[in-house]
Amino acid sequence: MLPAITDRRSIRKYRDTPVKRQMVEEILRAGMLAPSSKNRQPWRFIVAEGRAKAQSLAAMERGLEREKKQPLLPQSAQHLEAARHTLRIMEQAPVVIFVVNPLGIGMNRSLTVEERVYELCNAQSIGAALENMSLTAFDLGLGSLWICDTYFAQEELMGWLGAEGELAAAMAVGYAAESPQARPRKKLEDAVEWRI
Ligand SMILES: Cc1cc2nc3c(=O)[nH]c(=O)nc-3n(C[C@H](O)[C@H](O)[C@H](O)COP(=O)(O)O)c2cc1C
Repeated sequence: MLPAITDRRSIRKYRDTPVKRQMVEEILRAGMLAPSSKNRQPWRFIVAEGRAKAQSLAAMERGLEREKKQPLLPQSAQHLEAARHTLRIMEQAPVVIFVVNPLGIGMNRSLTVEERVYELCNAQSIGAALENMSLTAFDLGLGSLWICDTYFAQEELMGWLGAEGELAAAMAVGYAAESPQARPRKKLEDAVEWRI
């Protein structure tokens, strides 16, 4: 198996060493080489560093504060504290890449069955891009963290990003300051069923 697949870990502690732009571009190129449903390539990447990153995280902070009083995700309130921890990680990482789905229909209305299929296919395509990105970061000697806690602050972050569509995820990138153990995985026999 590819070492990037077996040895990659989610990194939640970063050194403050800057990451060269060419390396970030290599990660983005790998993301853009991912397969996508009907080759729609439903992604736009906004790379935030320095002052821009601080502004984006201030928007996320506002979202997490608002979420306490007027939750968009009331049934996920127990994960709000973990989202705050994710925000601290994003503050530490030198680079945060926001991944926007420009074709995202949004959360303000229910979807037709066809729209749901379209959304599922686009979400899988974006997932493929993020996976390529995290494996490439590993290959370049960098750590990364795939982040969806941004959903708590979807409106505030989209306001800051000023982009069309929907924020799908973010990825923190930087030089790792930790070497986490592998997190447990299901056993093959618990996840796979062979039918002959
Ligand atoms: C779609 C997705 C969203 C995630 N969101 C977060 C997040 O918001 N915060 C966080 O700390 N980790 C997040 N993670 C990382 C997972 O917790 C991690 O991948 C999992 O625990 C397995 O650990 P490993 O990546 O080290 O193998 C996310 C991972 C995925 C794939």
